[in-house]
Amino acid sequence: MTTNTIAFIGGGNMASSIIGGLRASGWSANHIRVSDPSSNQRQKLKSDFQVQCFESNTDCIRDAEIIVLATKPQMLKEALKPISEPLSLTKPLVTSIAAGITGTDILKWIGSPLPLIRVMPNTPALVNRGVSAMFANQLCSDEHKKAADQIMGAVGKTVWVSSESDIDTVTGISGSGPAYFFKLMEIMIENAVRNGLTEEDAKILVIETAAGAAKLAGNSEQTPAILRKQVTSPAGTTEAALISMESSGIDQVVSSGIDAAIERSRELAIMLGEH
Ligand SMILES: NC(=O)c1ccc[n+]([C@@H]2O[C@H](COP(=O)([O-])OP(=O)(O)OC[C@H]3O[C@@H](n4cnc5c(N)ncnc54)[C@H](OP(=O)(O)O)[C@@H]3O)[C@@H](O)[C@H]2O)c1
Repeated sequence: MTTNTIAFIGGGNMASSIIGGLRASGWSANHIRVSDPSSNQRQKLKSDFQVQCFESNTDCIRDAEIIVLATKPQMLKEALKPISEPLSLTKPLVTSIAAGITGTDILKWIGSPLPLIRVMPNTPALVNRGVSAMFANQLCSDEHKKAADQIMGAVGKTVWVSSESDIDTVTGISGSGPAYFFKLMEIMIENAVRNGLTEEDAKILVIETAAGAAKLAGNSEQTPAILRKQVTSPAGTTEAALISMESSGIDQVVSSGIDAAIERSRELAIMLGEH
């Protein structure tokens, strides 16, 4: 495992799960630094992962080759203020998981051109089953990209996108995506209970079906469309469900929902950024 030192600015939910993944994959606690304003949060990080914790962002980034910006998006500009000068001098790899803040804005706030990787993770990272899409600016080397792959790979799979605007699409697909599947689970559980099952049984049946379908799709060479056809016998129950859902416009409903998320991601980038 690499001996790079990583400094996390912000030690909340997402940073904690990435740190947990890094520790589990063998990254030494001596090479992980975290800053957070909350002393409770610092104590928890220290006791859970034995990492070095700091109140001051300036102390945190000292000697770090990789910075992970992990505050809420609206706090990021303020968090960067005290560290922009040292970052400009030491020129580490800067990665940001803050939704909606463009790389251009981050580098403008830092005040100098640095290798920067924007990452869009998702909440299943909390249970090591996340997926992150990443975009590297032109100052990033293959080594930088490898380091980012290692970091985000500690909490799930990674993909690279070739344009920063793709991050808005990713936000609408995998960033917000867990909520779409939760919504479908809610609808299925409600239906099962309305039709006489206990809530407890309904929950098990729905969650296991979702997990099983995801595993089947992930392990199969076939596309989801083919897998769906394979479980749809002519004149059977699945076909009855799908005909009803399609005639009610499920494709259009889901697709325009995703378009709304992508559009909102673009709007937020404008609202939160320097425009
Ligand atoms: N959760 C997700 O699924 C998800 C998905 C994609 C992207 N993201 C991105 O991940 C980032 C973190 O999300 P999260 O859910 O982990 O949020 P979070 O739990 O609120 O963590 C952010 C942490 O940053 C701390 N903080 C605030 N100001 C700071 C400063 N000036 N310097 C250092 N630390 C500071 C906060 O402390 P206080 O609470 O005391 O203010 C908090 O502990 C966000 O930008 C979000 O867009 C999250």
